[in-house]
Amino acid sequence: MSIATAPSHRTALITGASAGLGVEFADQLAERGYELVLVARRQEKLEAVAADLSARHGVDVHTIAADLADPDAPRALFEETRRRGLHVDFLVNNAGSAGPSLLEEKDWAPQAAFLELMMTSVAHMCHHFIPPMQARGFGRVINVSSFAGRLARAAGAHYGPSKAYLVALSEELDLMLGKTNVHVSALCPGFTHTDFHETAGLTEMKNALPGFMWYDAETVVREGIEAVERGKPIAISGRLYRWLDPFAQSKLFRPIIKALAPGR
Ligand SMILES: NC(=O)c1ccc[n+]([C@@H]2O[C@H](COP(=O)([O-])OP(=O)(O)OC[C@H]3O[C@@H](n4cnc5c(N)ncnc54)[C@H](OP(=O)(O)O)[C@@H]3O)[C@@H](O)[C@H]2O)c1
Repeated sequence: MSIATAPSHRTALITGASAGLGVEFADQLAERGYELVLVARRQEKLEAVAADLSARHGVDVHTIAADLADPDAPRALFEETRRRGLHVDFLVNNAGSAGPSLLEEKDWAPQAAFLELMMTSVAHMCHHFIPPMQARGFGRVINVSSFAGRLARAAGAHYGPSKAYLVALSEELDLMLGKTNVHVSALCPGFTHTDFHETAGLTEMKNALPGFMWYDAETVVREGIEAVERGKPIAISGRLYRWLDPFAQSKLFRPIIKALAPGR
């Protein structure tokens, strides 16, 4: 496959770049010649990723430790990139977690932090980083959503709806940005091999699912980058999930999901 390189000196900022899809985004964008800004909470992990990528691809890699559940984090990140003289041309809003159950977790604080991380921080990042892209006449934004945002399930009540918001936000931004050379895509992967399920204590569920439902991070990220380059506002990743998506949108799955829901 031919690799579309960054046309001139360009910079990509990736959130959730200490593990999983974020590391893969960093790798593939470094391969295309982007200077990188890696963001996550675990500074030591970011530094290990940065050392590996700059050694392998010969690009400059910056790290900024930030907790995107903090409502001020996107503003502080934007100002820190400015302070370092960095102009972000490619933004990947990828940080995320499985989150608490809306009904079972009795404390509101973790719920609010989860919604901040999954939705508000993404809108806040777009609010700061897209206008300079418009002014420069080039920008790429990938909001990492999920196939879980394409259909309602009995699965905690927060995660899928938060990902559906990213699809709606990306579609709306895509329309607003019209024919400018700033593209926004919501990337909707299905089950993908990363640290995500282990971190959420879902290893048993992961092991119970058949192999054909799982994709690797390389495929998901490659398809996401290709989709945003083509200006596709919604990118369903993986042949299986692209095939299932029209059924999910037509609500044909609804009776099956309802029948499988606990307590039915
Ligand atoms: N894996 C899947 O099956 C799958 C499917 C569909 C969509 N997705 C989505 O893909 C994205 C990446 O997930 P992944 O699968 O790569 O999971 P992962 O391996 O667990 O990585 C999650 C990343 O998000 C970062 N993160 C989590 N909370 C954060 C916070 N409060 N502030 C800043 N960074 C934070 C983590 O870094 P630190 O812990 O260092 O902060 C880590 O770098 C998520 O949005 C997820 O919802 C995953």
